[in-house]
Amino acid sequence: MAKQLVLLSLVALSFCNFAFADEQALQDFCVADPNGPVRVNGLACKNPMLVQANDFLFSGLNMAGNTSNPVGSKVTLVNVAMLPGLNTLGIAMARVDYAPRGLNPPHLHPRATEIFTLIEGSVLVGFVTSNPENRLISKILQKGDVFVFPKGLIHFQQNLGNGHAMAISGLSNQNPGIVTVANVVFGSNPDISSEVLTKAFQVDKHIIDQLQSKF
Ligand code: GLV
Ligand code: MN
Repeated sequence: MAKQLVLLSLVALSFCNFAFADEQALQDFCVADPNGPVRVNGLACKNPMLVQANDFLFSGLNMAGNTSNPVGSKVTLVNVAMLPGLNTLGIAMARVDYAPRGLNPPHLHPRATEIFTLIEGSVLVGFVTSNPENRLISKILQKGDVFVFPKGLIHFQQNLGNGHAMAISGLSNQNPGIVTVANVVFGSNPDISSEVLTKAFQVDKHIIDQLQSKF
C-alpha cells in the first residue's frame, strides 16, 4: 500500500513537471497550439515538425503605444497569445509608453516579477510591500536605470518629464496577467456593492458612485 502511494506521488509529481513546465524545461520548446484539444497549465504543444521561425517572432515593438487616454500611458504586452513560442518558457515582455506626466497606474502581475528598464525619460517608480508594513519603496529613474517589481506587489510608474518616456520590461511568466487596482475595485462586472466599498474605503456612497462611474 505504502509502495503504491509512493508510486502514485511520483506519477503525480512527473505530471506536475509537465504541467508546470516553466519550472523545469523537459524539451527545447513547446510552441503553443491555441487550437489544441488538451488542457494543461499553459497551452498544448504544436507538432515540432510544423514549427516555423515565425512561431518565435513578434514584430512591432518599435511602435509607440497610443497614450491618448485618461492616464496617459500604454502597455504593449508581448505574451504567449502574441508570441506562441513563449509557451512553457516562463518569460514575456512589455513596452510601456508615457505621455508627459503620464501614469501607468497602480497594478500588479499575479504570476510574474517584472524587471523594468527605462529607455527614455525620467520616471518615478514604486511598489508597496504586503501587510502589515505596507512600505512604499520608490525611486526616480533616469534613462538606462533598471528596477525590479517583485511578483504580486502593487506598483506604478509616472513620467516626471515634459516629453515622451518609454520603458521595456521583462516579466517572469508567459502570461503574467495585469490587475489594475482601480479597474478591478471600481470597474468590476457586476459592480461590488456600495455597502462593501463604503465600508472598505471609509467614505460616503456618493464618492463610491463617482469612482464607479469612471471605470
Ligand atoms: C507593465 O506592466 C509595467 O508595469 O511596466
Ligand atoms: Mn507592471
